[in-house]
Amino acid sequence: MLEALQPTPEPGWVLTHDGYSVLTESAVESRFAFGNGFLGMRAARSVSRGPTWTSWLGYIRWSSWPRCYLAGLFDIPNTDPPVPALVPIADWCRVRVLLDDVPLLGHEGEILLGTRTLDMRRGALLSSWTHRTPADITVTARELRLLSLADRAAGLQLQRLSLDRDGVEVRIEATFGLAGLGMEPLRLEDNLGAWRTEGTGKSVAMMGAATLRLDGEQLRPERPFPLRSVWRWRSVAGQVAELDRLVAVARADAPDEDPVPHARAALERSRSLGWRGVLAAHEAAWSARWTAGGVEIEGDDELQRAVRFAVYHLTSAANPEDERVSIGARGLTGDAYFGHVFWDTEIYLLPFYTATWPEAARSLLMYRFHTLSGARAKAARSGYKGALYAWESADTGVETTPESVLGSDGKPVEILTGKMEHHISADVAYAVWQYWQATGDDDFFVRAGAEIVLETARFWASRAVPESDGRRHIRHVIGPDEYHEDVDDNAFTNMMARWNLARGLETVEMLRSRWPGRAAALEEKLELGSEELADWRDATERMATGLDPASGLYEQFAGFHALEALDVAAYAHHKVPIDVVIGRERTQGAQVVKQADVVALIALLPEAFPGAMAKINFHHYEPRCAHGSSLSAAMHALVAARLGNPEIALRYLRETAALDLDPDPNSAGGIRIAGLGGLWQAVVLGFGGIDLTGEAPRIDPHLPPGWQSLSFRICWRGRRIAVRVTGDTVGVGLVSGGAMEIVIAGKTCELEPGATVEVPR
Ligand code: BGC
Repeated sequence: MLEALQPTPEPGWVLTHDGYSVLTESAVESRFAFGNGFLGMRAARSVSRGPTWTSWLGYIRWSSWPRCYLAGLFDIPNTDPPVPALVPIADWCRVRVLLDDVPLLGHEGEILLGTRTLDMRRGALLSSWTHRTPADITVTARELRLLSLADRAAGLQLQRLSLDRDGVEVRIEATFGLAGLGMEPLRLEDNLGAWRTEGTGKSVAMMGAATLRLDGEQLRPERPFPLRSVWRWRSVAGQVAELDRLVAVARADAPDEDPVPHARAALERSRSLGWRGVLAAHEAAWSARWTAGGVEIEGDDELQRAVRFAVYHLTSAANPEDERVSIGARGLTGDAYFGHVFWDTEIYLLPFYTATWPEAARSLLMYRFHTLSGARAKAARSGYKGALYAWESADTGVETTPESVLGSDGKPVEILTGKMEHHISADVAYAVWQYWQATGDDDFFVRAGAEIVLETARFWASRAVPESDGRRHIRHVIGPDEYHEDVDDNAFTNMMARWNLARGLETVEMLRSRWPGRAAALEEKLELGSEELADWRDATERMATGLDPASGLYEQFAGFHALEALDVAAYAHHKVPIDVVIGRERTQGAQVVKQADVVALIALLPEAFPGAMAKINFHHYEPRCAHGSSLSAAMHALVAARLGNPEIALRYLRETAALDLDPDPNSAGGIRIAGLGGLWQAVVLGFGGIDLTGEAPRIDPHLPPGWQSLSFRICWRGRRIAVRVTGDTVGVGLVSGGAMEIVIAGKTCELEPGATVEVPR
């Protein structure tokens, strides 16, 4: 077992945290969280944690937040307002250690060593600790925990423990942490637990199988009650106890479905492999994902580590096998935002999955297809046609944004994003189109994607109202910059809406010419007639855009330029967001942007910024941005890299990298996965200069000074391409798939299977 507990020896593949501080513990638990898109687990200690129950959190804080999440397991808790939230499931790796009947507790005695190591290469959390008890007994232990990437229902825990004393009565309990479970038990027997959510009628089954060996000899457990195995012995100094525990989890979404047989089958699969087999399959699955999605930077160790950390969490968050779930704003690493799904997924995460893991991208987009009915209902309720996606979405697609939250002064603050942040509909359509362009997955497009594009286009035609000035306006919205609410003609929203309408028209044409049967069926189902299509065309032609042709500048929304000019840089040293410093009211009246808004538009629709326009808009809006969201810096990095401004790009990239890698208490509620997706985009799409939107992929890299090389892989229409950019060349190899064309640094090249082409930069 000892070998399995050794971290990958290369320092670039591991993150290490020593010690324990109540101020940063929750953030460390998010940062070192592990998962497989089905299950996610925070990196809380498994041993000597002590009891956890709900307390008066107003003045006592939990030092740690042990949580295991199951994607898609939502219920509506007793909160005000009542919004669906991810329900934590039993913590399957809790271990109690009692020495001479005294529990080993973290806050008693002295922790002489406490190290957690995130082994990113193997997708495993390792820990080692030495604890001296008040009775002067020293316990030394090492541990590995993982959630299998090879079999998403499976988890594994290995623990190796020894004492420095003879004659101590040792009692080890491998148990499931059941405190704080918000579900009703259905079954609790032997090694099986099953629970059901009260409101949504979903159920979970969990099974465990644990073995303990003392100096290699298996010890028989006592089983005082379900989900607990107990071993006792009298210690001999230096003697080694080895615990291995397999767990299996299954979810059922309908009240009449039983998850137990699925959990049982999963546990059987793991048992037949044994823990070594489970570990080996998991490591092989991670190794395959690193080959497909890894990014290598020579010459910048800090960003190498950051991009690896991003790929680690992006890989841990997705599940290509489940079309009914998507990725929440904190993945499965924390409770912030209740597990809700935002535009973060389509705009910040999808490019990574589309380019490196198309199966995962497809599942995420199918989630939007399955939640179309929620989007249609929201549009209808708001008086519009087509599909208006929920700004915050859980399992059904119904709008789940809380209508208010408590402000820092304890007074409720109204949240308008659920009512007004409509660009989400175009963002979803955008991701569908990008995925289809890059993968050529016609089956997806014809069966699901086209309907999303048509229904969102239809929404925009009903949303953009013709007015007496001859323009169509989209009033009363919130753009990506949420500091300004209830604005008219947000350039990002209108331009994305116009793009969505144009793709809707293109979709109809294309379906009619390539899949006439499907075109007829969809047009009939959606009752889409020529009059409506003419209206879409009109909307694309007459959409208000906020563009001043003389200056080339888009106005972020009608009236933005007239707001108070503010020296945003003068506030940069504050630790809290600018709206807290200067107040909400002044923020709303000032030219201060929460996050990339027009700048995000430059990234998404570069064709809307010909010639010098991209630079003009970037340099106008960049100084006005206060980066009040973790999504902001990465988008600025991406645009700056594409504009050939590596200095600014690197600065923003390092800011993004610091978000979750530094001991920032803001990660307490989970890692900010959109920032990590943005980081990958800035490196691969920005510095790497990858563009997968055309009939042939284009690569036009802008390597920053100091980087000797940048290497990564990309999937394109069934092929896998390996790219290596150095100071003076771009090398591209076709790893798998048929011959293709590729445009490298403006030069069209033929790529043959197995061959590599090298073009000077
Ligand atoms: C940002 C949104 C984002 C949300 C979830 C907010 O602070 O302004 O753009 O979707 O967080 O990450």
